[in-house]
Formats: sequence, structure tokens, C-alpha cells
Amino acid sequence: MRAIAVSAFRAEPCLVEVPKPGPGAGEVRVKVEYAALNPLDWQTADGAPGEAVPHVFPLVLGTDFAGRVDMIGSGDNTFRVGDPVFGRVTAPPLGRCGAYGEYVCVPQDSPIALVPPGVPLQVAAALPSAGATATQILTSTAVRSGLSLLVIGATGGVGSFLTQLAAARGTAVVAAVRGDEGRRMKALGATATVDTTSGPEALEAAVRDLYPGGVDALVDLVSTDTASFASYAALVREGGVAVTTRGVAAPPGIAWADFRLAPTAAVLDELASAVARGELAVPIDMELPLEKAPQALAQNRAGGARGKTVFAV
Ligand SMILES: NC(=O)c1ccc[n+]([C@@H]2O[C@H](COP(=O)([O-])OP(=O)(O)OC[C@H]3O[C@@H](n4cnc5c(N)ncnc54)[C@H](OP(=O)(O)O)[C@@H]3O)[C@@H](O)[C@H]2O)c1
Repeated sequence: MRAIAVSAFRAEPCLVEVPKPGPGAGEVRVKVEYAALNPLDWQTADGAPGEAVPHVFPLVLGTDFAGRVDMIGSGDNTFRVGDPVFGRVTAPPLGRCGAYGEYVCVPQDSPIALVPPGVPLQVAAALPSAGATATQILTSTAVRSGLSLLVIGATGGVGSFLTQLAAARGTAVVAAVRGDEGRRMKALGATATVDTTSGPEALEAAVRDLYPGGVDALVDLVSTDTASFASYAALVREGGVAVTTRGVAAPPGIAWADFRLAPTAAVLDELASAVARGELAVPIDMELPLEKAPQALAQNRAGGARGKTVFAV
């Protein structure tokens, strides 16, 4: 089957032929129709998981997929051949199955769920990692109790879902972005948008203007060093919380959370149902053929994401 894979960590992703995987006990095999790009995909190619994580080469990239069940392994099962499903490939070893391949095998008890009627497969493919991250930040961290939320990097995949879900629960979202994105962010529910290219002073002035005592919560999707994270966290009120999705250590003296995604099928069900009800928009920026994934990964690494990129497999 066709797949986008790396032959070693830090090698260039490229189109390869790999054997079609067969479902083991308790697994389903899915004929992938769409995969979605997440920064995790190029971070994995770059070797971020580390040698200690069980992996195989060629390592097929990609976690988020949508398609149809095409074969069922032995044992109990909850799915039928032909079911439209979407989910995340999480079972080890890394790279045996990846969403950037024509088929994936996934345990039935992993994050995989039915695509509800009326939700297109490319929309479902764009949901799992970014949507579940936004959902779980709002349910599993102290951000849930905040009335005001500053999001750094709000124009990307996670930020687009987080802005909508936070706004829907009545939280005022200040979207920190690069560029003139006010209209886009307002449509997603942000109450204010600040362009960070004007420098940290402009962001600080805008936040202090709206919230003189500081915002209740910060979600920083961007900073990769403690100094940058700390400068944004300084805009959080005393007793508030700062969350990083980038594993950055916070300076002493602030309440913070190093968020780690732990998606479940229930969270995926919740997200897809919200889409089916018209309560959650899935901003798909680009739909590309799978062959374009190497270029799209390089582009995402350089920045500029506006919502989600999906690949037709
Ligand atoms: N820990 C976890 O479990 C977990 C889960 C999900 C995601 N993550 C991580 O969280 C990060 C965000 O994920 P994502 O899916 O949202 O990525 P994404 O879709 O690539 O979006 C990132 C966004 O940040 C914007 N940005 C970059 N630098 C900025 C700055 N200085 N000021 C304002 N905006 C800025 C980018 O646009 P511009 O470049 O145009 O500014 C882009 O819109 C990734 O690094 C991902 O790996 C971690």
C-alpha cells in the first residue's frame, strides 16, 4: 500500500510502498480515506518521541484518520465492516500503522468512534487530536473554571477548536495570533484578537486594557522556552492558571499545567456529535492529496497554520 513514511528519525518523509497491515485480535482494519496533519507528525519524524519509544522503520507518519472498517480481527467486536469511523492511531509500535497510509489497524478499545450521519469523512478526520486537546484542556485543567482565557496561537488547529468550545461555555477568549486574523477569530467566538507581531508590549497593553488584574487562564500553544511562557503567564491574574501544550517548564510562582492529550472514544463521540448538531465548525484550510504530505509537513513546521490541513488518501 502507499504511505508517507521516514526511513530513520530526521530523514525526509517520502512516499513509499509498505505491506498492508493485518488486524490482530481485538483490532479493526480501516481503509483510510482522509488523514489530518498535526505538528506531532513532523515532530515524530524529527525524532521527538525518542529512541526509547518502541518504533519501526519505515515509520508511517500520521495519527488522525477517517475511513471505513474493512476487516475485523478475532475476538469481540463493536464495529461492522463498512462502518464509517474516525480516530487516532496510538497503539505501539510507532510507525507500524500511521494515518498517512492506505490502511490502519487499531484496537477497538482505542480512540476510535463512528462518524455520525451528515458529517463528511474529511471533517471527521480533522477532529481527533486538535479537537480532543481543546476539549480536554477545558475539562481536565483548571482552565475550566475561568471566565477569561488568553490563547497564544489561536489560529491553528487546537486554537480554532479551543476558541469555539471556550466561547460556547461563556468564557471570554482573547486570541493572540500573528497577522490580521480578527474576522476569522471573531467568527470562531473570540471576544478580542491581538496581533503578536506588534511585540509583547502590544499584547500586554491589550490584555491589561481588557483585564487590568489579568486573565483567569492562559493556554500557550506556541512557546518552546520558559522565558516566553513566563512572559505570557505574567498576564494571568493571581490565583489563575497557565497551561502549556509544548512541555515547557514554568518559572516558579505560577500555577501551571503541562498538558498531555489522553483522548478517548467518548471525547471523539462528543466532538462529532457537536459537529453534526452544527455547534462546532471544523475549519479546513487545505485539502491535499496524500502525495503532498511531505511539503505540507515542511510548511506546518515553518508556521502559518489556519485551521486544519487534511489529506485525501
Ligand atoms: N501536549 C499535547 O498533548 C499536545 C496536544 C496537541 C497539540 N500539542 C502541540 O501544541 C502545538 C499547537 O498545536 P496545533 O495543532 O494547534 O498546531 P498548528 O495547527 O500548527 O497551529 C499553531 C498556530 O500557532 C500560530 N503561532 C505560531 N507562533 C505564534 C506566535 N508567536 N503568536 C501567535 N500565534 C503563533 C501559528 O500561526 P502563525 O505561524 O501564522 O503565527 C498557527 O496558527 C503544537 O506544537 C502541538 O504539537 C501538544
